[in-house]
Amino acid sequence: MRLLDACARKPVDATPVWLMRQAGRYLPEYRAIREKMSFVEMCVRPDIAAEVTLQPLRRFELDAAIIFADILLPLEPMGIGFHFSDDDGPIISRPIRSARDLDSVRTINAAADLEYVMDAIRLVRHELDGRTPLIGFSGAPFTLASYVVEGGHSRTYAQVKGLMYHDPATFARLMSILTDVVVDYLQAQIAAGAQAVQVFDSWVGCLSPYDYERFVLPHVRRAVASVKGLGAPVIYYVNGASAMLDRIARVESDVIGVDWRIDLDRAWQQLGDVAVQGNLDPIAVLAPKRAIEERVLDVLRRASGRPGHIFNLGHGLVPQVPPDHVKYLVDAVHRHSATST
Ligand code: CP3
Repeated sequence: MRLLDACARKPVDATPVWLMRQAGRYLPEYRAIREKMSFVEMCVRPDIAAEVTLQPLRRFELDAAIIFADILLPLEPMGIGFHFSDDDGPIISRPIRSARDLDSVRTINAAADLEYVMDAIRLVRHELDGRTPLIGFSGAPFTLASYVVEGGHSRTYAQVKGLMYHDPATFARLMSILTDVVVDYLQAQIAAGAQAVQVFDSWVGCLSPYDYERFVLPHVRRAVASVKGLGAPVIYYVNGASAMLDRIARVESDVIGVDWRIDLDRAWQQLGDVAVQGNLDPIAVLAPKRAIEERVLDVLRRASGRPGHIFNLGHGLVPQVPPDHVKYLVDAVHRHSATST
């Protein structure tokens, strides 16, 4: 399968493409289900999660499915409640900001505590029947810590950085617990049938390279090392980290996913001998088709047919995207990268 071959840096007949947030509100068939239940309800119902995972694959020739879930789901069994508000995104009921707060936090047994995710994975694998690989995922320790400490979205990350600077021992303990959770959660997803896993470090770009190296890198490295070698390649996605790709390379993930703020060839040069995923601006999918095509060609030209490129956006699809633009994008990637064999 193209995606798995590309992860292993083997040659492929056309560049594999999948899109972060390929299941979601831009699809009318997603909104039809979402009207009837909350987002979390959709996640905890394996039949619904499986259906929504497959929706984009019915429309587009995607080279991977990604299980419909959320990076925040493990927080519930950890004893850190959350909900989604309609306008502010996720809200953590009781943010963790001190050693005492952390004492009440539990590690998890993902296979049991998040059994609904594993059931959804098994259902999707059964439906796909080997045609398309299924990606599992988790938040990265720092991105999870940022939600857990901030209590939701943040512009400055003052709380999470505050904990890091003022009480580095507690911050390290939190990161270590989250790393254990990430490892257990990803291992359970692989055991349930995930054929690749992505670790989302969506908010790591708020850190200086110095603080990343010191406070975050060792934990991500441990998470990736514990999951690598289980038969499912690991994709480490970083957002806003283009100025510290030398540090990101030291995580030693099988694949590194990058955002759109850097040319793909420059990113690859800094990352070295590794597979690379990316990196179209997600907002460019709103542009006229001609403009989408130009940017697809630019990314492909910079990848220049090297084995190990997986086409994706630099971050998730937004709800405003017209589905026919997504079809155009996916087909353009295949059309322009196909090698005659
Ligand atoms: O990519 C996919 O299609 C798989 C599903 C997926 C979702 N969230 C579904 C979702 C994945 C991989 C995620 C990961 C996730 N969740 C991340 C990392 C990726 C990123 O975007 O940076 C983060 C930070 C979250 C946390 C999260 N979940 C936020 C901040 C929000 C609210 C913002 C928003 O887009 O609404 C969510 C909700 C969410 N997760 C939705 C979906 C489809 C929208 C829920 C709805 O229907 O209202």
